[in-house]
Amino acid sequence: MAARPQNFVCQSCGAASARWAGRCEACGAWNTITEEGAASTARPSRKGRQFAIESLKGETHEAPRAPSGIAEFDRVTGGGLVRGSVLLLGGDPGIGKSTLLIEVAAAFARNRHRAVYISGEEAVAQVRLRAERLGLAEATVEVAAETSVEDIVATLSHGSIPRLLVIDSIQTMWTQTVEAAPGTVTQVRGSAGELIRFAKRTGAAVILVGHVTKDGQIAGPRVVEHMVDAVLSFEGEGSHQFRILRAIKNRFGPTDEIGVFEMTGTGLREVANPSELFLSERELGSPGTAVFAGIEGTRPLLVEMQALVAPTTLGTPRRAVVGWDQSRLSMVLAVLEAHCGVRLSGHDVYLNVAGGLRIQEPAADVAAAAALVSSLARAPLPADAVYFGEVSLSGAVRPVAQTAARLKEAQKLGFVRAILPEGARGETPEAGLALLPVGMLVNLVSEIAARGDTSRRGARDRDVAAE
Ligand code: TYD
Ligand code: MG
Repeated sequence: MAARPQNFVCQSCGAASARWAGRCEACGAWNTITEEGAASTARPSRKGRQFAIESLKGETHEAPRAPSGIAEFDRVTGGGLVRGSVLLLGGDPGIGKSTLLIEVAAAFARNRHRAVYISGEEAVAQVRLRAERLGLAEATVEVAAETSVEDIVATLSHGSIPRLLVIDSIQTMWTQTVEAAPGTVTQVRGSAGELIRFAKRTGAAVILVGHVTKDGQIAGPRVVEHMVDAVLSFEGEGSHQFRILRAIKNRFGPTDEIGVFEMTGTGLREVANPSELFLSERELGSPGTAVFAGIEGTRPLLVEMQALVAPTTLGTPRRAVVGWDQSRLSMVLAVLEAHCGVRLSGHDVYLNVAGGLRIQEPAADVAAAAALVSSLARAPLPADAVYFGEVSLSGAVRPVAQTAARLKEAQKLGFVRAILPEGARGETPEAGLALLPVGMLVNLVSEIAARGDTSRRGARDRDVAAE
């Protein structure tokens, strides 16, 4: 008996099924299954071809890269774009993907590489207008508004092969090789496949733009993520002008580096020292904030962690976190309750990483704990101190990597004390930076709480004096 063709494809995760359903069994999304043209299930008519098998040991060629000259972009890609590689750039609509890529294309053109920018969303005039606004009107980037992958490949296979091809966006592309409407998962996958083949065949580096849905998935192109060599995401808060370029996957480079940009009236500006930017909006002297000395990739980065701990009106208190890991917060709260005598079961807890940055390091535990206790005790932390260290379930503060780099950055930005794990004591201190090692979290908590008591007593005394 022949298997029934799997014509129904979930537009969210790409799972195929033989029947329509309201809810995708694979990813649980509702109303995402649509019927698409049958994928070819016919047996291949030709026999397998023999190919040469090589030994793993052998000549390795360093992947030939072309740096763009935009340092923040090159850092994230691992030193530039590798020949024949395909990169997917995801991000919310309006975050600045097109702006970034026209700037990258212009940088390649400036380095005398052929750079082609194909827009499936905007007319050439609109692309030109943006370039003018960015001061790139004179750049020798080639532009076209086109959506047919076959036409694009045919056009670019003639003459000199571009060093960089930008496709903005993959959702607008369609290929004749599959029978499905543009924008469907099948089309996106088919178009990406064709463009990847073009890249591998010609050695052109291809950047695909992918839109992101509300829940942060690269819509449709999520199914493309495993086909491409690198996935970058361009992030930022609508209310802030800075943007972070992050590598999620990179076959040719690191995945923990970030690039920081600032969106200005004349395009994206590189931010060489992000700590200054992230600390620029600090409210000094208010309780519930602690400066975390973090590391992103190879680069130290100081950010402010803000906490609000307030009595709850709900049966189950709220725990909300923006920019950090929810389970990490739960762990820190549990340690505070179990080992530090901090009662939080009657309090809502909110934690926010200032400036829209997303932190992934456990080294932020101590800064988070300090901010939380500071808010609960209404005791402002010293404005000239930085915090870092991992908290273990036993309540001990554990050393973290790259202590020296963190301390150096803190000292550079004018901080005078660092609260750090005890084991890190051996690190060479920076001139003018006092090191205050903490062995157990409870010691830090009681020190902050004691400060809260005295400052409240001080306030009461002032109130009494004013009467
Ligand atoms: P765009 O690159 O079109 O975003 P995407 O391609 O990710 O959808 O950027 C759109 C936003 O950027 C728009 O809201 C205006 C802003 N912008 C600036 O602030 N300055 C500029 O120089 C440019 C070109 C755009
Ligand atoms: Mg765009």
